[in-house]
Amino acid sequence: MAAKIGVIGAGKIGEALVEGVLAKGLAQSGELILSVRSEQHRSALEARRGIRTFCDNRIVVAEADTIILAVKPKDVVDVLDGIADLLGPSKLLISTAAGVPLELLEAKVPAGTPVVRTMPNMAVAIGQGMTALAPGRHVPPERLAWATEIFRACGRAIVVAEEHMDAVTGLSGSGPAYVYIIIESLADGGVKLGLPRDVATELAAQTVLGAAANVLATGEHPAKLKDQVTTPAGVTIDGILELEEGRLRVTLIKAVVKAAERARALLHKAR
Ligand SMILES: NC(=O)c1ccc[n+]([C@@H]2O[C@H](COP(=O)([O-])OP(=O)(O)OC[C@H]3O[C@@H](n4cnc5c(N)ncnc54)[C@H](OP(=O)(O)O)[C@@H]3O)[C@@H](O)[C@H]2O)c1
Repeated sequence: MAAKIGVIGAGKIGEALVEGVLAKGLAQSGELILSVRSEQHRSALEARRGIRTFCDNRIVVAEADTIILAVKPKDVVDVLDGIADLLGPSKLLISTAAGVPLELLEAKVPAGTPVVRTMPNMAVAIGQGMTALAPGRHVPPERLAWATEIFRACGRAIVVAEEHMDAVTGLSGSGPAYVYIIIESLADGGVKLGLPRDVATELAAQTVLGAAANVLATGEHPAKLKDQVTTPAGVTIDGILELEEGRLRVTLIKAVVKAAERARALLHKAR
């Protein structure tokens, strides 16, 4: 069976995508082909997944129509140099490498090769990822739809213009770390009031999950949902007053902006 999807660099993100693609039936294991760097990882991955896995990226590109490039950003150029002659308009190259721009990717592959740059987050590993995709200059709508479908198999996915990728990095890329701190802090509040740590953490995490699910399910502005649970002269408004005094809003806004600025700075340094 010819390979439909190849993953070069089947590490944490690459294997998570494989898992999603199989779970959603976008491809069968016989239609997948993977590569990694080390023989140790290759044999372990092949034994674990039952998917043909190589230490030779050229086999992957020769066989697959869609190639997901999920190596570390520092390895992207070397890997592309090794496979570029096998790419072209009949293939689709999808990069997950953080901060590697379309300009560089397109310069490394034959003219006309469809290239999509993506920014997933680690929640793709549990099917709850948030991925932004930015198409290059030669991506027909149906191929962009296919790329989007692959990431939707692991959570949500949206298409953005590449100029927004730094903002995406600062928000949904780095965001899980901010939310872990928020969950930990909410749980600390519960512990301060005498709740066992595990109980407090479960309460905090499910509260964040429920609120997030409500925003996505209703499509309502978060401020409206906040107002719905804030009774006049009730309990919650006292908690909100503390948050405002502690400048939670401005702190989170600045965290997203700072991380995006850092992403942009790293990109300029790499050029
Ligand atoms: N992790 C995240 O939260 C996250 C979020 C957004 C974007 N990304 C991006 O996704 C990419 C992958 O990240 P990751 O966290 O999944 O990294 P990872 O777990 O380290 O996976 C990278 C994989 O690439 C393989 N590799 C290295 N050099 C190779 C080569 N020359 N040919 C073929 N395979 C090679 C490695 O194989 P060996 O194991 O054999 O060395 C490893 O399995 C990165 O570019 C990162 O910027 C990651």
